[in-house]
Amino acid sequence: MTRIAYVNGRYLPHRRAAVHVEDRGYQFADGVYEVIAVDHGRLVDAGPHLERLARSLNELSIARPMTDAALRHVLGEVVRRNRVRRGILYLQITRGVAPRSHAFPDGAKPALVVTARSLPPADPAAAEKGCAVITVPDIRWKRCDIKTVSLLPNVLAKQQAKDAGAFEALQVDADGFVTEGSAANAWIITEAGVLVTRPADHAILDGVTRRSVMALAARAGIAVEERPFTVAEAKGASEAFLTGTTAMVMPVVRIDGTPVGGGKPGPFSLRLLADYTEWAAGGAGTP
Ligand code: PDD
Repeated sequence: MTRIAYVNGRYLPHRRAAVHVEDRGYQFADGVYEVIAVDHGRLVDAGPHLERLARSLNELSIARPMTDAALRHVLGEVVRRNRVRRGILYLQITRGVAPRSHAFPDGAKPALVVTARSLPPADPAAAEKGCAVITVPDIRWKRCDIKTVSLLPNVLAKQQAKDAGAFEALQVDADGFVTEGSAANAWIITEAGVLVTRPADHAILDGVTRRSVMALAARAGIAVEERPFTVAEAKGASEAFLTGTTAMVMPVVRIDGTPVGGGKPGPFSLRLLADYTEWAAGGAGTP
């Protein structure tokens, strides 16, 4: 089957899909994106993803390329044309194409690219084993709440994790507090059974999965506290996990080689993983 990508108004074979060399996303990382899970052929949490997209565009004064209804149609078409039942949809909007010059160009039209691909079902054994993470200094800018394609520090952090045989890198701010992973939010569970995650300030992305997990925790009667936590607190926590569109709910069992929670995923993480998986498979809307 030929993969199809949407590029600025056209559905093209993936291998021929291309943007202009002077696209500002390519030259300045002047653009935003979303990654949305597809489950049973439906977009998971489309509403919150599109709301966050609108916010990111607004923060950067990038015009919307089309209405939300039209965008939803395009997203649905890309999923359908690629016959994705379970997988990932990627969408990117840049400020458009213009001769290279830092300030916003006059009259550039925002550029929209959408791709989708199927993924094998998540391996339950991987989540049940948990993952190792390392910690790295957070060297990013001061507006990590905006989901920009400017991801070089995240790329470097993830590669450092990979080189160390770990799954993720927890980024740590100048005060020693964990911000988030390179592509996931970070959580711990205290001895008292309280779920702790950093407040959605400008230092992290307010993850859509983060919000869903918060709602699922509330439904399960688990207390949630939004406050920063240190690496030492995370290492001594009774459980830790990551959330994100691709990570879903991933228990963390080692931080910089130190076992967390006895080196095995704990009951809260596994419960939230099960609840999230069931909810994501069940359809649209927030829990
Ligand atoms: N990343 N924090 C960062 C820095 C992220 O890049 C992501 C997601 C998250 C989790 O957000 P959400 O739950 O809305 O997926 C947190 C996507 C998956 C990516 O860049 O591939």
